[in-house]
Amino acid sequence: MTNHAIEIDIESCSYDREIVLANVRLHVPPGQFVGMIGPSGAGKSTVLKAAVGLVPQVRGRVTIAGRAVTPGRSPEVVGYVPQVETVDWHFPVTVQDVVLMGRVSKMGLLPWPSKDDKRAVAAVLERLGIGDLAKRHIRDLSGGQQQRTFLARALIGEPRVLLLDEPTASVDIKTRDDILHQLVSLNRDGVTILMTTHEVNTVAAHLPWVVCINRGIVAQGALRDVFTSDVLSRTFNTNMRVVTDAETGGLLVAEAGAHGPFAAAQRPLGVGSNQAPALSGVAAGGRS
Ligand SMILES: Nc1ncnc2c1ncn2[C@@H]1O[C@H](COP(=O)(O)OP(=O)(O)O)[C@@H](O)[C@H]1O
Ligand SMILES: [Mg+2]
Repeated sequence: MTNHAIEIDIESCSYDREIVLANVRLHVPPGQFVGMIGPSGAGKSTVLKAAVGLVPQVRGRVTIAGRAVTPGRSPEVVGYVPQVETVDWHFPVTVQDVVLMGRVSKMGLLPWPSKDDKRAVAAVLERLGIGDLAKRHIRDLSGGQQQRTFLARALIGEPRVLLLDEPTASVDIKTRDDILHQLVSLNRDGVTILMTTHEVNTVAAHLPWVVCINRGIVAQGALRDVFTSDVLSRTFNTNMRVVTDAETGGLLVAEAGAHGPFAAAQRPLGVGSNQAPALSGVAAGGRS
């Protein structure tokens, strides 16, 4: 028996022959809000997919709220929001249909939704501020509306654990903040959250617990232990600097820092140079 909401002990994961992820040990206590960061292709989505039985080959063990997950079988207590880029938006369904799919386990034997089902869908759409979109086709939604639709689909099953894959990607700043506030509120209600993000400053830097992934776990811990130049540089395979925000005291990652593409051009220029400095800097760097 376990006390963890999420218990991932993966030796290796693969979709075909190649191992894409190895040695992932991630134990999340109930009520925690965890952010997972790492470069593109690091295996962030794969960790979440393995946790809901969507990775065909997993060596190891995954348990969500005490229930074992096996390929093709995901426990009802978990809500999963896939990365929007991986969804087929031309699939001919409405927002309401998509959300209903998340309620299948509660729908009983009849293949059509009851009044209760419809009420539940309306309530969750209302909560997420998209009540007026129920009948809209998903292909006609904005990025933020798509994200909310999939969040609604995950929430309708009243999950105790939420796994979110880049829920704030491809939305504007206001929508990102709205979505994060919704998630914080769910977390306060007791939902354990594991979320991937590529936004280190605007998202991960606000979370209590962060996991760094690069084909395996590089580090995990409280934000202050993980947001170090050493850990982040190893995670992202490039020099990263962490600075303290003078105003808030919070940590900020200097994502471009001294190694950004225009860094050389920002140094004082020699007298008499009236060429486009940034471009010549890039060209010189690119030839090396
Ligand atoms: N369905 C798939 N079939 C084969 N390889 C895949 C599949 N999905 C992801 N991969 C590979 O697994 C690795 C990790 O991918 P992913 O988990 O999507 O990374 P991230 O989410 O961190 O960008 C990548 O090398 C990717 O090409
Ligand atoms: Mg991904």
